[in-house]
Amino acid sequence: RAPKAGMGRGDVVREELGVLHGMPIYKPFIKVWPQVEAFQARPDDLLICTYPKSGTTWLSEILDMIYHEGNVEKCKRDAIFKRVPFMEMNMPDMPNGIELLAKLPSPRLVKTHLPVQLVPSSFWEQGCKVIYVARNPKDVAVSYYYFYQMAKMHPDPGTMEEFLQNFMTGKVAYGSWYNHVKDWWEKKKEKQILYLFYEDMKEDPRREVQKVARFLGKELPESLIEKIVHHTSFQEMKKNPAANYETLPDWVMDHKLSPFMRKGVTGDWKNHFTVAQNECFNRHYREQMKDSELCFRMEM
Ligand code: A3P
Repeated sequence: RAPKAGMGRGDVVREELGVLHGMPIYKPFIKVWPQVEAFQARPDDLLICTYPKSGTTWLSEILDMIYHEGNVEKCKRDAIFKRVPFMEMNMPDMPNGIELLAKLPSPRLVKTHLPVQLVPSSFWEQGCKVIYVARNPKDVAVSYYYFYQMAKMHPDPGTMEEFLQNFMTGKVAYGSWYNHVKDWWEKKKEKQILYLFYEDMKEDPRREVQKVARFLGKELPESLIEKIVHHTSFQEMKKNPAANYETLPDWVMDHKLSPFMRKGVTGDWKNHFTVAQNECFNRHYREQMKDSELCFRMEM
């Protein structure tokens, strides 16, 4: 596929973020925003929504497995970013998210990282189901720091200290983690939204897979749950080229800098935060979350 006019790889690599409705985001994504806003959801679309690095790929693989009744071969038909297109994505030399979605037969799985206020209105008008996954912010921040290094559409993350400051103040792609998780939580009170936690999925994947299936109106036999849990374990996904993003070219994601399937655990922040950084983060967290019912497990 020929590069799009006016947009080359060099324009994207390590570019500063742009701003969309007050939210920092990759500049190429802003170019397709009118198409995203006008996106026509179908009633049987399922929207997978997360703040980045919260378990999007994991939930996507679980859902594709449920949709294909545990047929592993079918779930290897294509890379995860083609099976579950990233709606607002736009990169040179690749079809954008809207184009990928237009070609998919129903029922579609749609991935987005958008804050609730920016979700295209057709999803609500069509009454689509939504599954949200949230992950504790310390692990998200660490995971995001490594992702900034390996995924070249991000600006240089600087030091961990600098990155943490930017994360806490919402100066990273998709803005404030705090607002993202809180606003989606509030939306759950009025819409069909299943709100999951990465830590719960780690604790008891069987229970969480069953929860997802029930939300879709399905009751899965124990043997099928077992198969899905096995296929979507971190170890299995890490070696699965259809799930681990390693089929993308190096100029998009360089797995030598940090693999996409990095650690897949809860509490890795302890290997990265200093005592002072942790205290500062805790103070800021308490302040940001003081009016919220949400409760995150930072370790297990
Ligand atoms: P780490 O960087 O902490 O390892 P997303 O898909 O939203 O970008 O999230 C990526 C994070 O989820 C990474 O976290 C990745 O390793 C983790 N992850 C991906 N698949 C997983 C799985 N099957 N089980 C547990 N964690 C998984």
